[in-house]
Amino acid sequence: MTKPNLGVIERYRSYLTIPAGMPAVTLLEGNTPLIPVPSISKSLGGGFELWVKFEGLNPTGSFKDRGMTVAISEASFRGAKIAICASTGNTAASAAAYSTRAGMRSIVIIPAGKVAAGKLAGAIAYGADVIQIDGSFDQALDLVVKLSEKHSIALVNSLNPFRLEGQKTAAFEICDSLERAPDWLAIPVGNAGNITAYWKGFKQYHSEKVTGLPQILGVQASGSAPLVLGYPIDNPETIATAIRIGRPARGEEALLAASESGGKIISVTDDEILSAQKLLASAGIWVEPASAASLAGLKRQIESKNIDLESKKVVLVCTGHGLKDPDIIIKGFSKTKVLAPELKSLEGYILNG
Ligand code: F0G
Repeated sequence: MTKPNLGVIERYRSYLTIPAGMPAVTLLEGNTPLIPVPSISKSLGGGFELWVKFEGLNPTGSFKDRGMTVAISEASFRGAKIAICASTGNTAASAAAYSTRAGMRSIVIIPAGKVAAGKLAGAIAYGADVIQIDGSFDQALDLVVKLSEKHSIALVNSLNPFRLEGQKTAAFEICDSLERAPDWLAIPVGNAGNITAYWKGFKQYHSEKVTGLPQILGVQASGSAPLVLGYPIDNPETIATAIRIGRPARGEEALLAASESGGKIISVTDDEILSAQKLLASAGIWVEPASAASLAGLKRQIESKNIDLESKKVVLVCTGHGLKDPDIIIKGFSKTKVLAPELKSLEGYILNG
């Protein structure tokens, strides 16, 4: 019999630091597939096993749902009526969905013009109060932190520790699927909550179930790479708008995750991200640009011979679905054919190119 999907709180309640008796506000998130991608491993030279943890298959299309189920459950349990977050888009959509489920109001603050269409539409569809600011994600985050300190409004960015409690369950799932930890885990890094949560999860599972520990490769976009450069960026830029962040709130913890695990944090260019997005799509997995940073980073490490993957097990975390950002694909698709509705013209096109 197949196991029912319970959502991450019920599946892993005893592993989570959450209030006793807290009911779950859930959309049955988590339990995402760990998809083998041998064609990609081969195109990178082969000799190692490669999987994609496809987090774009969560209910609102990104990994944020794992953390949001816990953050909103906890806020609702203590009687909060309003949730607030700053967001590059995915947190906004997720906060909106879980808040409405809990009967709470959600307020999301986003950088104007820098949020992909599918994310903005999601936040609106789930009923958030969407506020755009003429500024960056980092400025939006400063503002929501101040607002939540001054007023009775629950902050649901990954500064909220309950977000990490939920997000660490992705590490548990990977270990449960592989029956051990992978040797390497590559993951995109923006505000640095997710890499921190994964490392927390792997360490906890290892201490309780002896699953081993992966080396962690964190990947930033080169125009938004404060953790690689070693200083904050005032005007971060990248086509991977999800990780267009210049002052990661959990930057110190991300650097610690990389160093403790024997891994590192590197950066990749927008071109490398877009070609990694194509490579993933060629294996049938369409992810948003930020999510392809994990593959772009791995590829860069292999090509520069900075990593030995012989017989290793490697997992790429792909954080958000490609449907979140359709424009990036449509922009590069200039060859749309419009033909007469006739068999002959279709045959001419199909058979002769
Ligand atoms: N990938 C995607 C698709 C994201 O949306 C984010 C972050 C990240 C990776 C990076 O994760 O911030 O924990 O290091 N998105 C946030 C948001 C900032 O507002 O949706 P991180």
